[in-house]
Amino acid sequence: MTRIPLLIDTDPGVDDALALLMAFDDPHHEVVGLTIAAGNVGLAHTVRNALKLCEVVDHPVPVFAGTPAPLLHPARDAGYVHGTDGFGDIAYDAPVRTAETEHAALAILRLSHAHAGKLLLVALGPLTNLALALKLDSTLPERIARLVVMGGAVTAHGNITAAAEFNVAFDPEAAHIVFSAFARTEVVDWEAVMAHGFPHQRFEAWLQAPSKRARFYDAISRRTRDWAVDRRGENWHSADALAMAHALHPAGALEIVERPMTVELAGRHTRGATIVDWRREEGRPDNVAILLRYDQAAFEARVASALAAG
Ligand code: BDR
Ligand code: CA
Repeated sequence: MTRIPLLIDTDPGVDDALALLMAFDDPHHEVVGLTIAAGNVGLAHTVRNALKLCEVVDHPVPVFAGTPAPLLHPARDAGYVHGTDGFGDIAYDAPVRTAETEHAALAILRLSHAHAGKLLLVALGPLTNLALALKLDSTLPERIARLVVMGGAVTAHGNITAAAEFNVAFDPEAAHIVFSAFARTEVVDWEAVMAHGFPHQRFEAWLQAPSKRARFYDAISRRTRDWAVDRRGENWHSADALAMAHALHPAGALEIVERPMTVELAGRHTRGATIVDWRREEGRPDNVAILLRYDQAAFEARVASALAAG
């Protein structure tokens, strides 16, 4: 069986970690690299977390450190959700491996050539690395088979500000560059995430699986789960996991809508908002395919399987 090469740009992050477990668990995809962004927490932590997760699943995939800050303006991280270190502050033993010396943006370009026309690129964090790669080589989109982005809030029901979602709001200029450069980006936005929660109790049952992965994930996610119960009630929402489910198994999508979408860069209340031209008023071509509804049972089965594996 030929496996689809999968490159993941990520800022781990508790929900990134679940998405990575799903990717490592999938027999039809081969993870060829992890390029690391700053976002949920600072780059030193997100790189270390990625390396640690690879160690937990015993996977030798190369990890490439990216850019430590947004392109233009400093942004607030999400340590209050994911823990100061991004992995729930459980004081895990340091990973043995270190990151590669190649910069993430250069790794994206090199891997796009190595797997030209076949590469599935999934972005689970702010789009800084991808934007830099595009500035270095604007032909990148020609070599990408699919780009799936977790980001945005398509009717402006944001999570970090009233109107904006975290990954786009962290580096709006980068998101603008990416959404403008690719003819078609598959978007899994925050509002889709909110529509695909599952009960905490069900998730806790999956965490009881007798696997190293489940034990590790139980530990790193505990703090975020407590926070989520307080903030969001009885359902657990895992943004990057939903994006990964859609990336790995697009047949699970039940409703997708294509529209033109841009990023607000200047708004006083709306910087980082993703503006979808629902009525196609401005005559621009559709550039995003927005996931509205995904097979919930298929999503949950993938999450449960990823936790039980190994
Ligand atoms: C996104 O922001 C981050 O905090 C999560 O890891 C996810 O990628 C959700 O808005
Ligand atoms: Ca993320």
